[in-house]
Amino acid sequence: MPHNHQPILQTRNLSKVFITGMGFAKSRLVAVNRAAFQMGAQGTEIFTIAGESGSGKSTLAKMILGLLEPTEGSITFRGRNVTSIKGRKDRLWFMKEVQPVFQNPFETFSPLNRVDDYFLETAVSFRLIKRRQEAPEYLEKFLELVGLSLHHIQGRYPHELSGGELQRLSIARALMTRPTLLVADEPVSMIDASLRMSVVNLFRELKDKANVNVLYITHDLATAYYISDRIAIMLRGTIVELGPVEKVLDHPLHPYTKILKNSVPEPDPLNRLQPVRLSGIESKEFARAGCKFAGRCPSAMAICETQEPEAVIEDEREVKCHLYSESQGKTTA
Ligand SMILES: Nc1ncnc2c1ncn2[C@@H]1O[C@H](COP(=O)(O)OP(=O)(O)O)[C@@H](O)[C@H]1O
Ligand SMILES: [Mg+2]
Repeated sequence: MPHNHQPILQTRNLSKVFITGMGFAKSRLVAVNRAAFQMGAQGTEIFTIAGESGSGKSTLAKMILGLLEPTEGSITFRGRNVTSIKGRKDRLWFMKEVQPVFQNPFETFSPLNRVDDYFLETAVSFRLIKRRQEAPEYLEKFLELVGLSLHHIQGRYPHELSGGELQRLSIARALMTRPTLLVADEPVSMIDASLRMSVVNLFRELKDKANVNVLYITHDLATAYYISDRIAIMLRGTIVELGPVEKVLDHPLHPYTKILKNSVPEPDPLNRLQPVRLSGIESKEFARAGCKFAGRCPSAMAICETQEPEAVIEDEREVKCHLYSESQGKTTA
């Protein structure tokens, strides 16, 4: 039975607008458009934000981590407004509670330092241990959680470990402060395809073993399907469908979710090699009035060109699409 808890994270009407260029070339891009979701109200969970490259996922993650100021709206973490967490003590609390896991583990670890030094540094700077001698025992606990051992990593340099092992290490490091929430932005896209699933499954295990919530950000619906409790599909800044993962991915309602589900997942590094092609579609779609998907949507109607759909609840999920908002008697989300 799901219990109702206070959500650990809640965003309301959250937007980020980027202004680029100057003068006549000045343009305004709404990278995140009135995002509204919560996490944790049904207990510890893995919540996924999925969408193509350039849909605003990383911008959303950065705002949640407090690294980027929202243009509008609010983010509440455990009842506190993230943008107003300013003082040193409060920042430290927040950094312990909300830990990032980054895309490229090879960038997380300096190639010049032994990986265990990095753990020691975290333990010391967050004052997790009182004396250096306590470190090995302390580290072992967290390494065990991610399926590694001190014996295996001690004295090693990053290049002596695989991408998968390094990502496990950065997850172990993130767990050291006993966070309530991990924000993992494309955590496996730089990892060999053969190792991806095992690292992704680790999040599932940690949810139970370390009681940690995970905001999993990905362009890959396959991994999302396996580990998520709920999923939000993001398109050019807008969350277009949100609900339990089986509902959304087994029986998608939004035409974009349907197409995303049937398209071959694009490996991220390749995406970045084709910025011109992508930014072509991207900026056009971002600039659209109405539904951002109208230009690609097989079911587009006249209203989709002019009016942005509002969220409605349909078959246990929220969906922003005029196909559903047109029908009568629906509850507004
Ligand atoms: N600092 C920035 N200044 C201007 N535009 C940005 C900035 N950061 C991201 N963008 C734009 O916002 C859009 C969303 O980017 P991003 O959040 O990185 O998407 P995703 O993580 O889904 O690939 C893209 O069009 C990107 O070019
Ligand atoms: Mg991104």
